Amino acid sequence: MPEPAALGSGSLVIASNRLPFDYERGPHGLTRRPSSGGMASALDPVLRKRGGGWVGWPGSGVRPGDDVEAPGDPYRVIPIHLDAEEVERYYRDFSNRCLWPLFHSLPGRTAFDADCWNVYRRVNARFAEALLCEVNDRSLLWVHDYHLMLVPELVRSARPQRTSAFFLHVPFPSYDLFTLLPRHEDLLRGVLGSQLVGFQTRGCVKNFLDCAERCLDTAVDRESQRVMFEGRSIRVGAFPIGIDYSRFEAYALNAPPRVERHQRVILGADRLDYTKGISQRIQAMERLLVLHPEHLERVTLVQIAVPSRCQVVEYQDLKCEIDELVGRVNGRFASASWSPIQYLYRSFDHDQLAGLYRDADVALITPLRDGMNLVAKEFVACQVDDPGVLVLSRFAGAADGMAEALLVNPYDLDGTAEALHQALCMDESERQRRMTALRVREAEHDVHAWVDALLRSAAESRRG
Ligand code: UDP
Ligand code: G6P
Repeated sequence: MPEPAALGSGSLVIASNRLPFDYERGPHGLTRRPSSGGMASALDPVLRKRGGGWVGWPGSGVRPGDDVEAPGDPYRVIPIHLDAEEVERYYRDFSNRCLWPLFHSLPGRTAFDADCWNVYRRVNARFAEALLCEVNDRSLLWVHDYHLMLVPELVRSARPQRTSAFFLHVPFPSYDLFTLLPRHEDLLRGVLGSQLVGFQTRGCVKNFLDCAERCLDTAVDRESQRVMFEGRSIRVGAFPIGIDYSRFEAYALNAPPRVERHQRVILGADRLDYTKGISQRIQAMERLLVLHPEHLERVTLVQIAVPSRCQVVEYQDLKCEIDELVGRVNGRFASASWSPIQYLYRSFDHDQLAGLYRDADVALITPLRDGMNLVAKEFVACQVDDPGVLVLSRFAGAADGMAEALLVNPYDLDGTAEALHQALCMDESERQRRMTALRVREAEHDVHAWVDALLRSAAESRRG
């Protein structure tokens, strides 16, 4: 049998559900713009630098035969088309109504359905086939996120000499939560088809090792972070993802000059997703104005909410809830010339976002649970001027490496309001001290360092 190709020595082929572009069909054909989730934001610069291919779903607007590539693209885009049933059952239901809430520790929102599981398996098999068509002997296969957890084992069982890596961008839950899911053993087996399994935090690694040991009755070596499974030794590790720091910093340096405003700005920027804690954040803003009325007329929360997963009913409900909440809080406090909340239900490109980050006094990033949260890191990279303050949920993976932020519990509305007050009152030297430390760390641990670390570890895992 030929030796497996060493990860790190060939061209990179990524598989993820979402491609880095969102396509829209207009009168002049397809147009595309960057996708807004963190996974796509992070991986696009990696492939731009290294070249390679990206296998993924181009969205329902694209038909088989459409050209999804543009002249001069630095890497290949290989579309996997999904039919209407697959979009509903694999993407909407199994991935985003079952795995997404459960992995974010919200089991009450989780719905499991055996039919959806079957469609999830079928789509994973299509991704595996497409990947195998794309690779040559020296390619590195890299599978991403919860939509494709069966792909590594499907690839390995079809071609045992093929090796792959898997990275989960979202949290991996505790044993007690994970085992609520019927077929959880299949997901573990699926992922363990890789030679390297990467997570955002050490907490996720611990949860995964506990699950592998208890659900599959495998031997786990916590010291060397390995799972011995079916005669193979699989390396498991924490690889906290970074951002394309220098690109965001450059965008911030080149953004149009700050527009003078009468109010200080607290900025929130998220997909409209219940894991992001947007409702709690608006209520924390309300508590700030009650507890510290000196901020009335002086501070505005600018909340960007990017439309997301609009076909999922929980996201439709959330949109209504937030519309109402913004209306109530604005109705309660607004004056003729000021509203406490400016709510922008749309997506901004990274260069525009960088200007907004740079000019904000405070970033209020309060997910109830988040794999990492790249917005927190992008805000830091863009503090090229008078430094702002980062108020960050302790339940975001990013909090593990951002001790100089003001860390909050997003469920504690008064605690978050007090942290906001502290941020707004912080003197310049303290802001500078905290932000400098954050910036040094994020610049060093950027997305390119993250890929290097992962690929190095994969190569080592083969040797030892
Ligand atoms: N984003 C964007 N436009 C917006 C708001 C956000 O492109 O108007 C991007 C943002 O720059 C970041 C990503 O969406 O790279 C969000 O990533 P994060 O890890 O914070 O959360 P996710 O959406 O992946 O859960
Ligand atoms: C998170 C997930 C990504 C996903 C993104 C946007 O970042 O980890 O895999 O692409 O959200 O969600 P969507 O459902 O639009 O792809």
